[in-house]
Amino acid sequence: MIAEARQNYLDSYLGTVPEAAAYLGNIAELPEAVRLAGQLHLVDPSTPAAALAETSGLSPKEVEALYAGMQTDGLYQKLVTSPFYPRRMMHHMGASTQRDWAADPEYAAKVLKGEAVAPRNLEVHATRGSCDYTCTMCLWSDKTDKTYRTLNLIDSGNGLMQTPDWITVFKDAKELGTERIVFSGGGEPMLNKELFGLSAEARAMGLQTQLYTNGFGLRKSTEADWAEAVQMEQIRFSMHSPTPDIYDKIVEMPEHAEALPTVANNIRELIARRDAAGASVRVGIGFVTQALNYHQIEEMVDFAHGLGVDFINLRQDEVEVTRELTDAERRQIAEQLISVRERTLRGDFGDMYVDMSDDMTAMANGLQQTVRSVGACSVTWLRPAISPYGLLAPCDLRAEPRFYDKGYALGNVRRETLPIVVANAAGRTVAANCAQCMPSGRTINSVMDKFSVDQAAGLPYDKQPFLARQ
Ligand SMILES: C[S@@+](CC[C@H](N)C(=O)[O-])C[C@H]1O[C@@H](n2cnc3c(N)ncnc32)[C@H](O)[C@@H]1O
Ligand code: SF4
Repeated sequence: MIAEARQNYLDSYLGTVPEAAAYLGNIAELPEAVRLAGQLHLVDPSTPAAALAETSGLSPKEVEALYAGMQTDGLYQKLVTSPFYPRRMMHHMGASTQRDWAADPEYAAKVLKGEAVAPRNLEVHATRGSCDYTCTMCLWSDKTDKTYRTLNLIDSGNGLMQTPDWITVFKDAKELGTERIVFSGGGEPMLNKELFGLSAEARAMGLQTQLYTNGFGLRKSTEADWAEAVQMEQIRFSMHSPTPDIYDKIVEMPEHAEALPTVANNIRELIARRDAAGASVRVGIGFVTQALNYHQIEEMVDFAHGLGVDFINLRQDEVEVTRELTDAERRQIAEQLISVRERTLRGDFGDMYVDMSDDMTAMANGLQQTVRSVGACSVTWLRPAISPYGLLAPCDLRAEPRFYDKGYALGNVRRETLPIVVANAAGRTVAANCAQCMPSGRTINSVMDKFSVDQAAGLPYDKQPFLARQ
């Protein structure tokens, strides 16, 4: 009875993914336990190999053989990269980790032993600690009670990190294994007039650079700023409505500022300059669904396509700063997501990549799914963030006033230098129990937990099933 209920559950979960039929058909002849283990893995790819073995009745060696088959199975690869698969991002995180570690086993060994490494992606809030917008859903600060000042996060004697401080951080990070600097906020990065100079410095050291911005300030760029902007790896514009009335309401800008048309023009100009220079910066839009715009998803995707961007990331208000949506509103979101997905497959958006978070894919499939809870937070060494005042925190939320908690502070990179802060952090386990953790954070933690539990049980990372091999 229980076995039948479980089978029904697995079938209905995978039945929402059209590509699953071919893969499941392909493994239909295999023993039932192997099929079950394969299905369980698809439902939650972060399940440790030992748990999979125990539930399915396979031996550890048989699970390893199943994983080896997945690495080379084209149908499996098609399924896990499908826009219908609600663990697509989770699978992708596993694959990029496996790829990175295979290319740099020394780095992998240090990570797995808990030794001091800098993250591959280091988020820096090289802002002025403030913003020109006041977004309703902003996770950074409420600008009244929870600010750097009211929470005493302004590193007293020293104040804001200055350009030479950031350059030292980049140099140290590069030496410790960082590959990419992500400029975001703690406020709006473009309010720092030296932002593009910092990007140029980082790139000269061999680091890639990315920027998250509201994009309003780009119009004031100098020729040198534009020249640097087109050389960055990626710039993502946060744009939460395609219509000026709702855009202005979300970001709290007056109508006369003409914020939406300004940002739209800035995006067009960036793309034109990139193309004229033969440069390759990836330009995209980040859209956060919330009470004010939940009905504008499809309209926003059309708008983004009209602007000519390379991608659009569709996300929910991931930390529930805004009010909870009603069931009817969530249904309306699901309907739009379904339509956007169909139109994407029909080619309506050309080369523009429409990227939905896993929970949105699940919503479109009529499913509810959770991410497995684990003990330790791995975001600390995957993508920690440094505040405008030098505080290193395990993630962007903990570096910012709205979700700051001193128990999560890892140190100050200016007072102690990055290598010292990273060395201190290496010996410390950060508990993965934050009520407000981002879904992407939870996903990273669950996948990393699998890598480390499996490694300890004798299954090395190159035997994981995520990375496709010929
Ligand atoms: C806090 S902003 C700082 C950088 C810049 N000012 C901007 O808006 O892009 C960093 C990213 O967080 C996103 N964001 C803000 N509030 C959010 C929320 N409640 N849920 C999910 N993402 C959010 C923004 O859209 C942006 O992409
Ligand atoms: S532009 Fe960015 S930092 Fe500024 S209020 Fe909006 S989300 Fe927050």
